[in-house]
Formats: sequence, structure tokens, C-alpha cells
Amino acid sequence: MDVIAPEQRWPAVSSGYVFHDQQVREQEQRSCLSAAHDPLTLARLAETGVGPGWRCLEVGAGSGQVARWLADRVAPTGSVLATELRPGLRPGPGLQVLAHDVVSDPLPAGEFDLVLARLVLRHLPQRHEVLAKLVRALRPGGWLQIDEFDTSYEPLLLAPDEESARLYEKFLAAKATVMRSAGVDADWGRRVPLAMRRAGLSGIDPRPHVQLRHRDSADLRLLAHHTEHLRDQLLAAGMTGPELTRVREVMLHPDFRATSSLMYSVHGRKPAR
Ligand SMILES: C[S@@+](CC[C@H](N)C(=O)[O-])C[C@H]1O[C@@H](n2cnc3c(N)ncnc32)[C@H](O)[C@@H]1O
Repeated sequence: MDVIAPEQRWPAVSSGYVFHDQQVREQEQRSCLSAAHDPLTLARLAETGVGPGWRCLEVGAGSGQVARWLADRVAPTGSVLATELRPGLRPGPGLQVLAHDVVSDPLPAGEFDLVLARLVLRHLPQRHEVLAKLVRALRPGGWLQIDEFDTSYEPLLLAPDEESARLYEKFLAAKATVMRSAGVDADWGRRVPLAMRRAGLSGIDPRPHVQLRHRDSADLRLLAHHTEHLRDQLLAAGMTGPELTRVREVMLHPDFRATSSLMYSVHGRKPAR
């Protein structure tokens, strides 16, 4: 497989992916995601025992922070393949980067000791077919880790006043509409364990994880970022411009607290031959 420079593929790819319209905002989003979710993802990856000599694949690798961490873990004899529709990450020692659409492009079969997909399959209407493709890419005994949200649970706990509380809930509802219209499965995270078992994996091990949203939390910064990144779609879903400005202020208010959506980190293994 060739390494393709990001600038070669950036304008050429067309996808229904909801966040793909503005390059700079997408890069900011990828770094917010990394800050909010790498601690869980890396802790779970470490539980697999990933180490020197392993061959790993991360699909939809985003900022590439996790893929770089994996490349350090598997050095000096292992390697990591990080794929993205429009890669913003650079190849490095032990890290190969590929412009690749996981829905339509092939993956080698029986190749990887560990495959990771975080917050990718929820965006893909073909998520079950893609899951089967990821399972095929594993060698016997290999690990699949899927980290995914269930956004049906993210209650508000505290807001500066009633009007702020209503506005936050209106924003969450508008965001849910935007995601649904883009084909996102909002509560896919809770269905991953069963889907993995149906795809032939064993040792399924789901772990739910929740965070507190407050003005200094990376998870809330990601949500505040969506008020700008998804602005046009949120306006079409019924928010007004002033409401988007105001809800961002509400989320950054010292008295704001909410529960994050649930993140499920799920392990499964391909049965050994
Ligand atoms: C919400 S982001 C998650 C990024 C990264 N996995 C993380 O968790 O930080 C979803 C990623 O999936 C990628 N993606 C969406 N559709 C894809 C496809 N068909 N093939 C490969 N990657 C895709 C997007 O480009 C984006 O980087």
C-alpha cells in the first residue's frame, strides 16, 4: 500500500461524513477528540498487551495521536498502519499513513494483531459491513477495539438559570437532528458488543465510561466547538445565530455541569485457528 501525502487527497475525496466541510475546523475537532478521549483509549489498548513486534491498524485515525502512541509501543520491530479519508497526520518511524475509505477500499485479510476504530463506525451507514471487514483484517487471536458513543444519555446537571438549561437542551436536540440526518447512529456504542459477537469475535469485553462536562473539560470544549463547526447544520435544525453564541457562553459558565455521553470501549478477539 502506498503512503499518500494528505494534500494529494484532501480536495478529491467526497464523503457523507458530517464534519467534512472545513479543513481548519476539522483539525481543531480532531485535537479536541484526542484530548477528551485518548486517556481511555490508550488505557484500554494497553490492556491488550500491545508491544514490540505487533502489527496494528487504526482506521479513521484523526489527529494520529493514538497511532503514534501505538507506533512507539510496537517499536522497533512492529508497525502501525493509520488510515484516514484525508490524512492530516504524517508518517514516521513504524507509522505508515494511508488515504483510504474504509467503506469502499480494501484491507488486507489476516494481517493485524490489533485493529482500532474510535468514533468512526457510528458515522457509516455500512457499519456492519465495515465491522466484518475489520474482523477479516485481524489475524487469528488478534484484538479489535471499538470505542463509540451512546449519545442518548447526556443529562444536564447544573446551569446558571432556567433559560440557559432550556437552551442547552435545545442545542443537544438540534445536534441530534443534525447527526441523524447525516446517517449517524446515536446509540451505536451500546450495540457494539452484540455486533462484535455476531461478527464472530470472542472474549467480548465492553467498558462504559462517562465524564463530567464543565468549562475546563476537553469533552465540553469539543461540544462548544460543534457550535461553530456544525453552525450551518444547527441553524437548519432550528437554532438561531444568537442562540449558538449564547449556548457556548452557557457551556463555558463556571456554574455549568452536565454528564457526558457514554463512551463504550469494547474489546473482542478473533478466535485462534
Ligand atoms: C469523529 S472522527 C474520529 C477521529 C479519531 N478516530 C478519533 O477518535 O480521534 C471520525 C473520523 O472518521 C473518519 N472517517 C469518516 N468516514 C470514513 C471512511 N469512510 N473511511 C475512513 N475514515 C472515515 C473521519 O475523517 C474522521 O477523522
